[in-house]
Amino acid sequence: APVQVKKICCIGAGYVGGPTCAVIALKCPQIEVTIVDLNQARIDAWNDKDFNLPIYEPGLEDVVRAARGRNLFFSTEVDKAIQDADLIFVSVNTPTKKGGVGAGFAADLNYIELATRQIAKVSNSSKIVVEKSTVPCRTAESMRTILEANSKPGCRFDILSNPEFLAEGTAIDDLFAPDRVLIGSLQTQEGKDACESLRSVYANWVPTERILTVGLWSSELSKLAANAMLAQRISSINALSAICEATGANIDEVAHAVGYDSRMGNKFLKASVGFGGSCFQKDILNLVYLSETLHLPEVAAYWKQVVTMNEHQKRRFSKRVVDTLFNTITGKRIAVLGFAFKADTGDTRESAAITLIRDFVAERAIVNVYDPKVVEEQIWLDLEESIPQPLAATKKQVVIHKSALEACKNAEAVIIATEWKEFLQIDWTEVYKHMNKPAFVFDGRLIVDVPKLTEIGFKVTSIGRGDKA
Ligand code: UDX
Ligand code: UDX
Ligand code: ADP
Repeated sequence: APVQVKKICCIGAGYVGGPTCAVIALKCPQIEVTIVDLNQARIDAWNDKDFNLPIYEPGLEDVVRAARGRNLFFSTEVDKAIQDADLIFVSVNTPTKKGGVGAGFAADLNYIELATRQIAKVSNSSKIVVEKSTVPCRTAESMRTILEANSKPGCRFDILSNPEFLAEGTAIDDLFAPDRVLIGSLQTQEGKDACESLRSVYANWVPTERILTVGLWSSELSKLAANAMLAQRISSINALSAICEATGANIDEVAHAVGYDSRMGNKFLKASVGFGGSCFQKDILNLVYLSETLHLPEVAAYWKQVVTMNEHQKRRFSKRVVDTLFNTITGKRIAVLGFAFKADTGDTRESAAITLIRDFVAERAIVNVYDPKVVEEQIWLDLEESIPQPLAATKKQVVIHKSALEACKNAEAVIIATEWKEFLQIDWTEVYKHMNKPAFVFDGRLIVDVPKLTEIGFKVTSIGRGDKA
């Protein structure tokens, strides 16, 4: 029979585990939720008395304020939290492998495996183990093998797949009212019972018809499929934006017209300088790798093209900047507004801004950067990793500023890389006064009012619009 969940442990206090389990604690006051991490600094930040939490996410602070210390706890005592729990979420990181077999494509499952082995080692009662991190199809099977081979007598482990579909920047809203919650289990009686236990946790706030229960592998593949198809829409609209630029069509008009088709829908059709984030590229590459190992090279090539197109979009944009500035930006000051991979997050993983800045630095420009939420230290870490020169050299070319206006001073061009709301309120007349002339604006997010800026005197270039359109 299904066990009634009283204590939950979440391994990994990152962008997924933190918000997800904080919301579970808020919505299920009868359940004690402990989120653990090996990273002491991260746990300290979650426990910070002034609520300077380790991740920025609208609404998160209120959730943590309401539940922390009541039935929500953050700790580095991993073993104890595992032992106490009847249900364990595994939400550790699964980056793309940097070396070895499948380097550049396959997911690095080392953290998942270590966490799984730890669960097997320290558990002295039965557990439901829930795979929450985005992982390649069949990871649950490997987890099951490890757990079964290492369990003590009287300890049963049931594995579930429960992929998270939240998007950063809207994580709390997404968790409060998810389109769906997906739970995958083995179709055995024990598997179905475990599934029911987790289902009844979500049933505290999610309507029954939105909780979908499927087989383990369907669940794992659905997560990769959802992200791959979302990313594919962006690459599709971005591919069309290139045609627009060459013909005088306007990508916003095209997207609007296409999106009216109810079979298509109007969301996720915004042309941009390229998608970023920790999931899209990683999950597509997982799918490519999976297809290849299944001897399906045409399928692999199909999905690979989505990432290739995204790389092309970023490249095309930086080339357009150089071309427009009379084929050279050497020694010129370029302001890059936005460093996060999208608005309302401080996360920079795979952000298009990183690629742009790398390109501008390679052209020997001076780059002024401003982002409302990304901390300076993170910007340097990202640039150190992506620019093939010592950080000291990069620091001679890149300057981080405290406001958009300041970043634009004496610049030849302004690049909008992230669609932060505050960039809608920029006083462009004031910016114009302080820029070198001719003053250029390159809108990588389609947020500026082109006629208004043109009237002020700017030369505006937008994604998906011909220069004369
Ligand atoms: C299509 C467009 O839908 C229509 O808007 C446009 O004006 C003309 O082209 P049509 O070709 O008549 O219309 O039929 P449609 O229903 O789109 O189906 C096209 C093909 O796709 C069919 O062979 C159909 O069987 C197939 N299909 C459609 C699928 O295999 N799966 C689906 O989910 C939908
Ligand atoms: C994504 C999925 O949306 C989410 O369901 C999954 O759980 C994790 O991956 P996330 O990466 O946080 O979420 O943000 P998302 O809003 O999907 O944006 C991803 C990237 O695509 C961003 O760089 C964004 O700017 C870009 N994007 C999104 C576009 O360029 N155009 C669009 O129309 C939508
Ligand atoms: P995501 O975006 O998937 O949440 P993050 O990198 O933000 O990824 O978070 C993953 C967290 O998991 C990190 O804080 C990391 O320290 C933690 N972690 C990884 N392995 C373990 C482990 N074996 N035990 C506890 N925490 C772990």
